[in-house]
Amino acid sequence: MDVYAVAGNPISHSKSPAIHQRFSEQSNQTMFYGRLQPSLGEFAATATSFFAAGGKGMNVTVPFKLDAQLLADELTPRAQLAGAVNTLRIENGRIFGDNTDGAGLVRDLLAQGIQIQGARILLLGAGGAARGVIGPLLEQSPKEFIIANRSADKAKELVQLFSGLATAYRVTLQSLTLSDLEDSGKTSSAYDLIINATAAGLSDDSPISNMAASNIFTPQSFAYDMVYGKVTVFMQQALYRGARVSDGLGMLVEQAADAFLIWRGKHLSEAIDPRAVLAELR
Ligand code: ATR
Repeated sequence: MDVYAVAGNPISHSKSPAIHQRFSEQSNQTMFYGRLQPSLGEFAATATSFFAAGGKGMNVTVPFKLDAQLLADELTPRAQLAGAVNTLRIENGRIFGDNTDGAGLVRDLLAQGIQIQGARILLLGAGGAARGVIGPLLEQSPKEFIIANRSADKAKELVQLFSGLATAYRVTLQSLTLSDLEDSGKTSSAYDLIINATAAGLSDDSPISNMAASNIFTPQSFAYDMVYGKVTVFMQQALYRGARVSDGLGMLVEQAADAFLIWRGKHLSEAIDPRAVLAELR
């Protein structure tokens, strides 16, 4: 039987095994998908033995996405741009690294009826999670894309890194600091889509103050938190101002769907139903 796994630390909470189990049932695939918890610093050793023992593919989550990128013999362009790998597969002894996070986010947004083309997007955060989704979002041709981070330098670096892609898709790309968002002169007006890619939600914190929230959210806004399993403070701030909100569970399911198709074949895309799996998880 073909064996797959998700590797992270911690990993016991992961919903990925349940999601892939449902995809394999929907498409009549016989496979096993388990969990691996390498110790910190042990990712490469764990992944190497997994593949040596016949493992076919691996999903990679926090904190190993950069280690996975370094381990891969070959990267897809989107994994290279994301600076991180969430999907590994092996073929003829070579390990290929891809990143399906950004595509997963885009598909979840579109499935929720969110128009990305022509939108004004505000991305909060400039760490690995933020970087992973910028490319696929820019490729949808939003009008404006602002990266706002607590520390200015990291946001500026990302603007530099993605400026070529932004130009190609005619997107105005800029950086701000989170405190700039409190100044309505600097943020100019509210945003259509505000995505929280910071780690603040994990510690019951919001990256933005209430003053910033009043500037960026309107009842026409859509606020997306990549965290799932709870209504975060960021989501509460948006709800209070009449905006629609979503957590990141749909992104999790959609990135898993992409990984599943990479491993088992694109021809199965009609056989699996990520939105039904998402509804079951909810
Ligand atoms: P990840 O891979 O989850 O993105 P990371 O690379 O460590 O993790 O990045 C964490 C991001 O969350 C950064 O953008 C960080 O801001 P800084 O670059 O200024 O450190 C942001 N972040 C974490 N906690 C935050 C908080 N309480 N408020 C605002 N931003 C926060």
